[in-house]
Amino acid sequence: MWWAYFVAVHNGAYVGVASHPSFGDTSETLRLGQTGVRRTYRRRTIALALKLRGVMYAREHGYAQMRTVNESSNHGILAINERMGFRKRPAWADFVLTLGAE
Ligand SMILES: CC(C)(COP(=O)(O)OP(=O)(O)OC[C@H]1O[C@@H](n2cnc3c(N)ncnc32)[C@H](O)[C@@H]1OP(=O)(O)O)[C@@H](O)C(=O)NCCC(=O)NCCS
Repeated sequence: MWWAYFVAVHNGAYVGVASHPSFGDTSETLRLGQTGVRRTYRRRTIALALKLRGVMYAREHGYAQMRTVNESSNHGILAINERMGFRKRPAWADFVLTLGAE
């Protein structure tokens, strides 16, 4: 379920999306879910605009903070988040031990 779902539209086509899922949130925290922009529309600040629209939504609804998690090698979204003022918290490493037949 979503609290808010913003879509960028160009000439009737959906070209970008940013979502705010309701799972795991509190009355203080609005989470950011997936953000995506069609490849041919990238680097036109569509993602940034969609995410800033989310900030407006959070302010309008009285949230005290916003939170999100991103894959550590996704330079695009990390750059956008830092540009918006998000601050990194300590990271967790995801370990896997593969159990073979031996
Ligand atoms: C990540 C993504 C949403 C960015 O969308 P976008 O509309 O191209 O981003 P913007 O144009 O708003 O970028 C704003 C700024 O962020 C930075 N940025 C964006 N993409 C970047 C990239 N690939 N590498 C480095 N910096 C990047 C730049 O500073 C950019 O400003 P500039 O173009 O003036 O230099 C898009 O690349 C995408 O859909 N990727 C696949 C889905 C994904 O990984 N989503 C994020 C996880 S949910």
